[in-house]
Order: sequence, then structure tokens, then C-alpha cells
Amino acid sequence: MRARDDLGAATADRAAVAALGAGRLVILPTETVYGLAADASNPVAVAAIFEAKGRPRFNPLIAHVADAVEAERIGVFDDRARALAAAFWPGPLTLVVPVRDRDRVCDLARAGLDSVAIRVPGHRRARAVIAAFGGPVVAPSANRSGRPSPTTYADAVEETGGAAAAAIDGGDCAVGVESTVVSVLNGRVSLLRPGAVTRAEIEARVGALDTGGEGHRSPGRLALHYAPDAPVRIAATAARGGEILLGFGPGSGDPRWSLSPTGDLREAAANLFRMLREADREHPAGIAVAPVPDHGLGEAINDRLRRAAGFVG
Ligand code: TXA
Ligand code: MG
Repeated sequence: MRARDDLGAATADRAAVAALGAGRLVILPTETVYGLAADASNPVAVAAIFEAKGRPRFNPLIAHVADAVEAERIGVFDDRARALAAAFWPGPLTLVVPVRDRDRVCDLARAGLDSVAIRVPGHRRARAVIAAFGGPVVAPSANRSGRPSPTTYADAVEETGGAAAAAIDGGDCAVGVESTVVSVLNGRVSLLRPGAVTRAEIEARVGALDTGGEGHRSPGRLALHYAPDAPVRIAATAARGGEILLGFGPGSGDPRWSLSPTGDLREAAANLFRMLREADREHPAGIAVAPVPDHGLGEAINDRLRRAAGFVG
């Protein structure tokens, strides 16, 4: 059985590499969320991603590479960018740095910017496919624009599978929220999107983050995002008729609908998008989500919840 599974996986991975080479789209598992991937150097393939997601073209994509050597071919890394790459790659950190090679990651993929977002994913099969393909692969989350990111194979296929020529089932995403996006530009290090690597983990490597208000410079930070169809609000109880409560911690609602019954932020992150989707299907009247502490991974969880609820300053 194991041998047959391995054979099936190898066949799927080969099909994915061939599809990327042919300028087609691929459902690619990563440790954070599922991505919809394409050859970063091919503007026609990249245009198909924007089309499939209904994504505004001013919102640039992340180039995924197999290792730091490949990353330095497409972007310019100073000492602090290198320190962050060394500490967190492969893993859920995206670095925005000045672009070095404008062809390997085409203009459309960068939304015309002079910077490029790069990450080395922690998922072994994603890295193997990218290495076999032999160049950077852009991969936004595989949801249609504005919807919750898919963290299971089934959710990814439901969202954008129709646009993909190949799909890899890499299991459920272990992390469950997207990568942390950090820019290292003009000697300043700024947090553009809170994510799986925490603010404290970044600051432990490069010192205090710049607070010059760079956050708005990530063009993808739209107010309403990650949103299911059902209205979402942050509240300790499900007061309204038909609403479901997604709890957090002991004594918070029905354990079947708890992000983490023990109050564990990692578990809550891993469950977040899958549960929002399940709640959306089963409780269209509304979703209340119990408050989650704002430290560590909680910063990313609360960021996604505020956007799912549609209130963000
Ligand atoms: O975990 C992840 O990062 C997932 C998996 C699939 O790798 N990908 C992901 O991609 O979340 P996406 O496209 O949904 O989010 C990319 C974010 C957006 O907020 C975008 O605006 C920002 O990165 N971004 C990309 N390039 C940028 C740049 N040059 N400057 C500033 N922000 C950039
Ligand atoms: Mg996304």
C-alpha cells in the first residue's frame, strides 16, 4: 500500500512539473495554506492565476523557490535579510527585497514593483516540485480572491481546482495561516503581514521592527478578506438565532466547534480556515468567534479574523 501511495505521489508530482513547464496552473500544497502555482517567468501563466482567483492585478504574488541560493538569484539580500532567511527557511516566512532579475519573476507577478516577495516553503513535496521545475513558482493562496484560504486538498480543489491542470494532495496544512511577510528594503525591516512566524521570533533575529507605517505598503491588505459567505463577528457567545460559536479555550462553547479546547494558538491556527469553511456550510446565519489572545500566533489569527469580519483600520 505504502509503495502504491508513493508511486501515486511521484506520478502527481511529475504531472505538476510538466504542467508548470507548459504554462498551466497547479494546486500546490504548502505547510501554511494550499497555493495555486504557475511559472513566475511566464506572463501568460501568471495572468491565468489572476483570472482564476478574480484577483486585482495590483496585488503582487510570492515567488516560491527551492532554496536560498535560488532566492538570491531573483532578489537582493542584505545582512538582515540573510539572517532571516537562514533562521526561518525552509518555512513560513516571506521576504520582500529589491528585485534582482526582472525576468525570472515577471512584471505582472510583481505588479510592476521594484521589489519581489520570496519564500522557500517548508512542505517537502512543494520544494521537490519547484526544484524539479527548475525556477521560481508564484503561488498565491488557492482561494478565489477575498475568500478564506484553503488548508485542505478538498477545499483547494473546490476553490480553484477547475483552473488547474494538475493538483497535488499534500494532506492538511500543518500551520494553517499564511506566511509572515517581512520587507527588508533600504535598510528597514517591516512587518507587512503577520503570519506563522511571530513578531517576537523576527525581532529576536534582527532587532525591533520598523514602525514607520510600512504595513499599508503590502498591496494585498484589503479590508474585507478571508471572508466566508456567513457574517463573521468576534464575540464570546453566539447570541443571535442560528449563529454558531467557534470557541477558544476551556468552557468556550461546543468542543466540536472549538478552534482549540485547551487554548493552544498553534492548534487554533491550524483549525482556523477549515472551521470557518465548515461553519459557513453548516451555519449560514452567522459565525461568532471567541476572542483569541493577541500575542504570538494570535496576532496572525486576529488579523485574519478582523478581515473576515470586515473591520480593519
Ligand atoms: O503562506 C503563504 O504565503 C501562501 C502560500 C501559498 O505560500 N501564499 C500567500 O500568497 O498567502 P498571497 O498571494 O495570498 O499573499 C501574498 C501577500 C499579499 O498580501 C501581497 O500583497 C504581498 O504578499 N506581497 C507580494 N509581493 C509584495 C511586494 N513586492 N511588496 C509588498 N507586498 C507584497
Ligand atoms: Mg491569499
